[in-house]
Amino acid sequence: MLVGVLKEVLPGEKRVALIPSTVSVLKKAGLEVAVEQGAGTGAFISDEAYVQAGARVVPADEIFQSSEILFKVRPPEASEVDRMKEGTTLICLMDAFFRADLMQQLAEKKISGFGLEFVPRITRAQSMDVLSSMAAIAGYRAVIEAAELLPKYFPMLMTSAGTIAPAKVFVIGAGVAGLMAIATAKRLGGVVEAYDTRPAVKEQVESVGARFVEFDLETADAEDQGGYAKAQSDEFYKKQQEQMKAKVVAVDVVITTAAIPGRKSPVLISDDMLAGMKPGSVIIDLAAERGGNTEGAVAGEIVEKHGVKIVGYTDYPSRSSVHASQLFSKNISTFLLNMVKEGVFAIDLEDEIVKGALLTHQGHVVHERIKPLLSGQKGD
Ligand code: NAI
Repeated sequence: MLVGVLKEVLPGEKRVALIPSTVSVLKKAGLEVAVEQGAGTGAFISDEAYVQAGARVVPADEIFQSSEILFKVRPPEASEVDRMKEGTTLICLMDAFFRADLMQQLAEKKISGFGLEFVPRITRAQSMDVLSSMAAIAGYRAVIEAAELLPKYFPMLMTSAGTIAPAKVFVIGAGVAGLMAIATAKRLGGVVEAYDTRPAVKEQVESVGARFVEFDLETADAEDQGGYAKAQSDEFYKKQQEQMKAKVVAVDVVITTAAIPGRKSPVLISDDMLAGMKPGSVIIDLAAERGGNTEGAVAGEIVEKHGVKIVGYTDYPSRSSVHASQLFSKNISTFLLNMVKEGVFAIDLEDEIVKGALLTHQGHVVHERIKPLLSGQKGD
């Protein structure tokens, strides 16, 4: 059974799905590994390092033609799917809620497509949780970016020329990215506060060093069974904006991470709130890829409104390509090895991790949450 590792094609994407130390883990499980030439370049891994770990390094054509299983980081381009053999198993991030076209194409090509973002957040799957690995990096880098752009110190400093007050940081959404952002901002010496619609996270927020801010909002229905945030009404978000305004205008840095799986991000910082902020303040909007939590955020760019910089970068994990690739490699290979018993790969639909992440199989879109997105797809 050959596992092929493709080079990422999205411009600027520096991660690679598998690193050399994990090649040997797959080989020990009885699998062969082929890596596309130059796949590791963005993460500073040479072709030679893969060869030393026991992989073959070959051109893309050979990967597409001879692999039974394909590893990637980002969802494939249509032209990549065209090059895949029927019956191939593809494992990567799929962005499936927003890529009905891709789901259709994979199904037509009879690809068994696994979306790593659908791996359930259960204990047994913790070491396969790519979203958590990548979000933690994003939370860390969000603070580094804010510190770089803020025209102030982060820590409190007592100098002979006077005392410098510490930067005030407000984190909205204390999931994986938010908690890492809190811990990082705290380490840099900032005074950190955080808010989340899930009251259950108060203790976690406090354990990483922030004060949990509470608002007068009805949050009993904030969480779904999987522990993810549920979408709220427009009225709820309006109330949230009103109550958060005093907090937002008083701080130097806001980091927003409020995500609702499969939905556009809720707008939590209105233009009116931006106008009240101190010029020079910085907002890092981690949800920019899905429209952003800040009015006017632009995915991939820094825009300035009312003297406030709004950073909408969507590639923080790629900016930490070495560690992002290391974590991704561990996550994806653990996910695969869960389906390999004594050197034999099999898709066991009785396994909730396998079933939870399988999107397309045997010519159909099979995932219950993705099927409704496809018009004309009967599903079975
Ligand atoms: P998560 O689901 O663990 O956390 C999101 C948190 O936001 C949850 O705790 C949720 O309760 C909270 N939330 C939802 N609505 C809220 C509201 N109205 N007010 C306050 N809190 C609210 O998600 P995770 O894994 O931490 O990811 C966070 C964001 O970071 C996501 O949007 C994700 O797409 C993004 N991300 C961005 C990257 C980038 O390069 N920009 C890279 C990786 C992740």
